[in-house]
Amino acid sequence: MEFDKEINRHGTGSLKWDRFKGMDVLPFWVADMDFESPPEVLAALRERVSHGVFGYTIPPESTVCAVCEYLERQHGFTISPDWLVWSPGLVPSLNLACRAFAEKGDGVMTFVPSYPPFLTAPGYAERELLTVPLLPRADDSGWEIDWDLMESTVTPRTRLFLLSHPQNPVGKAFSKAELAQIGAFCLKHNLILCSDEIHCDLQLGESRHVSAGTLPSEVLKRTIILMSPSKTYNLAGLACAYLVIPDESLRNRYKREARGIITEINLFGYAGCEAAYRFGEAWRQRLLAYLEGNRNRVYQVLGRYSQIRLRPMDATYLAWLDVRGMDVADACLAFEKRGVGLSDGVQFGQRGFLRLNFGCPRAMLDEGLQRMERELSSHA
Ligand SMILES: Cc1ncc(COP(=O)(O)O)c(C=O)c1O
Repeated sequence: MEFDKEINRHGTGSLKWDRFKGMDVLPFWVADMDFESPPEVLAALRERVSHGVFGYTIPPESTVCAVCEYLERQHGFTISPDWLVWSPGLVPSLNLACRAFAEKGDGVMTFVPSYPPFLTAPGYAERELLTVPLLPRADDSGWEIDWDLMESTVTPRTRLFLLSHPQNPVGKAFSKAELAQIGAFCLKHNLILCSDEIHCDLQLGESRHVSAGTLPSEVLKRTIILMSPSKTYNLAGLACAYLVIPDESLRNRYKREARGIITEINLFGYAGCEAAYRFGEAWRQRLLAYLEGNRNRVYQVLGRYSQIRLRPMDATYLAWLDVRGMDVADACLAFEKRGVGLSDGVQFGQRGFLRLNFGCPRAMLDEGLQRMERELSSHA
């Protein structure tokens, strides 16, 4: 099986692997996968290399067309090509959005736990961060939005709502009804909705993504959607992402803020994005089946230990482990000492949780889980 192939990433400048360079620690932290990208993407990149000329590159028409067709086909979101704004990454885009759509001192709201740049972007721009905790359901069947808390947290100076959809790290895919209510909330309080949908093509099992692009027009005109093929097709190093901003004045505000800071993006990014969207679907389906197998393995193994609680996840290859039941001062460090490198929930605004990236060959995952079991059974 293609995803079983173990590829040595040492010496490739891998952020994920070099963090534990020279140590016997397997990395399960940052969100990239240890898989090769689809063969069709590799072929497109080789072809682009063989052209041999790598000058400044504007978005190729064929890539723009592939993105428009993909959004329509995959997410029922019909766009006009001029709604697209390209970016080398969504992190800079989140930061620019805070600057473009809020003034100094204005509020930016988001759920916690949250992908860390959602929590740092407002402060970097001297905007106020307002957080609303997602609530684990009493029966542990998932996560809920506390609508009353949303209402009591929002202020007259709040301008922007940052949504990670599906949600990193809890893996929640917001339902059509929840998304509609978030949209209505933004409309009521005059907020711009920034929906980061980078994980939207990584739905596991029966779950289906509902794009913010399908929200009613009065909400869509105050919505910006952040997208990238990078998570699904493992292309983060190609630095190619894009925003869909339907409203012209919002688009211009964003572009003004990006002026002189974001220039042309990497030409290999366009080639990879286009090939992934045009030809990557069969590979993506195989990937999802493999990730489901990995997710089940994590739940099966760690589910045996009462110190860890796991709630169902709809999407992503990131498991959010509730380790508050572990009798250790620092669970992240305890697992690291056993040779397992995880992300600490503190960075996501939720102490007592760890994030485990299972986007890796099953043999590596099994080795990591065995190491975790050694730690867990030492406290049993
Ligand atoms: C919700 C979310 N947004 C953005 C990113 C990063 O995007 P980029 O690599 O395009 O900056 C990640 C990466 O894990 C993510 O989970």
